[in-house]
Amino acid sequence: MKTALTGIKPTAVPHLGNYLGAIQPALALSKTYNTLYFIADYHAFTTLRDPVALRRHVYDVAATWLAAGLDPQKTLFYRQSAVIEVFELAWVLSCLLATGQLERGHAFKEALASGEAPNAGVFNYPVLMAADILLFDAHLVPVGQDQKQHLELARDVALRFNHLFGENTLVVPEPLVHEHLLVPGTDGRKMSKGYGNTVPLFAPAKELKAALLKIKTGSEPLDAPKEPRGNAVFEMYRAVASAEEVQAMAESLRRGGYGWGHAKLALYDALEVKLGPLRQRFLDLRGNEQALDDLLAEGAKRARHFAQATMKRVRCAIGIS
Ligand code: TRP
Repeated sequence: MKTALTGIKPTAVPHLGNYLGAIQPALALSKTYNTLYFIADYHAFTTLRDPVALRRHVYDVAATWLAAGLDPQKTLFYRQSAVIEVFELAWVLSCLLATGQLERGHAFKEALASGEAPNAGVFNYPVLMAADILLFDAHLVPVGQDQKQHLELARDVALRFNHLFGENTLVVPEPLVHEHLLVPGTDGRKMSKGYGNTVPLFAPAKELKAALLKIKTGSEPLDAPKEPRGNAVFEMYRAVASAEEVQAMAESLRRGGYGWGHAKLALYDALEVKLGPLRQRFLDLRGNEQALDDLLAEGAKRARHFAQATMKRVRCAIGIS
């Protein structure tokens, strides 16, 4: 069975867009792949300077993925920071990469262009990510569009390693980019924390409703026919409701006599059906940090077992043993 792996950066509470665009598809992969999903806390540390927030977001992310259905028996679920072999491999890989390749990194270039003085962690970010991936012989890496360049670098350095130290020492990973599932936010742009247009995932029902009522729509009169496609309410509904329900809403909107307010309420109902039961699980899981720590530590233990075998192979190949 092939291996799929991805990292989740704990910089915020996951929102509906994360759930539909990343969490759900990643969990679906666990049926056909050996899966490793981890919390990339040392990636978050490149920019997050608030220890309380960092700690809190690790638990938020862990409880969210578990509530969404991650089965820790099947999927290795761990904190990146607990698998210290990652940092050793990152060093090895950094010695095989030209600084020019890292200088061309999007995130680093953007930080420079916006007048910031990025730290060396931002510069080395893709190296750490390559280590996350190559340490576990991952074949497939589900990521967002913005991570494609990082995957290219992971592939390059794996090929380079194999070329220098022996073919088939490292598995060359493939990206799986979910570009078709662009979940719009409340302003119609891609849902993203940076745009402040997110819909919360496990907020109390009242708060969810308030967020949905804020979604920008046209101001056509109730009777007017309306074009559903491209409207944020309809596009979100398409991501959560059944095909028949979606069809029915599209027809009502096009016919006229059905307003965006109606559509928002239908969206709210569909979200409640889907997320209501998960919300309670989330709250239960989130309420017991010790249990989450134990579960992640168990995952890390199993992950390290695998990681140590890879490092043995790597050290032996490069002449450190
Ligand atoms: N950089 C990824 C992000 O911002 C998170 C990440 C860290 C990751 N390590 C990874 C993703 C390894 C895939 C594989 O979302």
